[in-house]
Amino acid sequence: MAMMLAFELSGEHETLPRSEVLASCAALKVEHEVVGSGAQYLLLSVHNTSADNELPHTISARLAMTHHILSLLVRCDASESAILESIRDADITIPRNETFNVRVRRMAGAQLSTTRMERLIGEVIFEGNRDDGVKVNLTSPDHRFRAILTKDSCIFGEVLASVDRSQFEERRPHKKPFFYPGAISPIVSRAIVNLCEIGSGDLVLDPFCGTGGILVEAGMISARVIGVDAQESMIRGADENLMFHGFKYHLICGDACKLPFPDRSIDAVVTDPPYGRSAVVMAESIVSLYKGALFEIYRVLAVGGRAAVVSDFELPQKWIDEAGGVGFAASELFMERVHRSMTRHILVLCK
Ligand SMILES: C[S@@+](CC[C@H](N)C(=O)[O-])C[C@H]1O[C@@H](n2cnc3c(N)ncnc32)[C@H](O)[C@@H]1O
Repeated sequence: MAMMLAFELSGEHETLPRSEVLASCAALKVEHEVVGSGAQYLLLSVHNTSADNELPHTISARLAMTHHILSLLVRCDASESAILESIRDADITIPRNETFNVRVRRMAGAQLSTTRMERLIGEVIFEGNRDDGVKVNLTSPDHRFRAILTKDSCIFGEVLASVDRSQFEERRPHKKPFFYPGAISPIVSRAIVNLCEIGSGDLVLDPFCGTGGILVEAGMISARVIGVDAQESMIRGADENLMFHGFKYHLICGDACKLPFPDRSIDAVVTDPPYGRSAVVMAESIVSLYKGALFEIYRVLAVGGRAAVVSDFELPQKWIDEAGGVGFAASELFMERVHRSMTRHILVLCK
């Protein structure tokens, strides 16, 4: 039997949140099919497994760019009458004396008022359960229902799990024991770790680990992590940042172009090499650094392993071709405008 899940995505990037969900399902070996998607939602039909009840929590514990995972109850047009009729027809049953609330999120182009729809949907659910002592509780209900309104459609369901996004706020680079400017945010780090389809216990390498931000996010999804950096001061700083998280890690001061690991010994590589004006480049030139590192990353990766590389690649196609030259297949490319003078790219490669 299939279970219909709706992922309420953050609007941080146009395509990255969706890819993060799909890669996380692949990492967890969850059989799934995409049955619908919009600017900030993704609908998946997920095949039943014995641990099904845990599945939404297991996925949400990994994700960074999703807000909630819902069990999909209604998908209909965005008109008020269609929404209320469909929710009435869904015949939502709440156990005796339990409580619920309804929240509505309006995406770009949606016309209906959120407060009015929260009240009207609440009334429909209350009417269907009024004889059972069911009540509304706005702050800590037993059941949370959410509607996502877009210009043309409404996605409605019960919340099964939510992503704790405040944890990423707590791990922002300037809040860590060792700070050095230029580290990418924990949300982006976690999302790119997920793009590599990393399984629990997989060995993940960041060959330009800096302060260890990517390693922290990989360790938190139960990967074993190794960091390499050419600056001794960074290795000491990464050690300070990693030691409180309770997972094992290994840090080495070395050169990303001469990695001290055997061929095919690493399951995934996630990294942001130096870029931008103030970057410390420990190589003859940035081009020779990137070329040398790509060659080494390919060598140490296991067959089927993925590498995600973040940079301000001025010519992403040139780097896709370079990666192709060492044997990689490019799997995905994401572009993100960081500020007026910097556009970052995330290149996902597959061996
Ligand atoms: C953009 S920073 C990485 C930031 C990192 N993601 C973090 O969380 O702090 C790039 C790092 O590459 C390191 N680096 C420069 N040349 C290197 C080389 N040849 N081999 C390994 N690391 C190098 C720098 O010391 C710097 O720490």
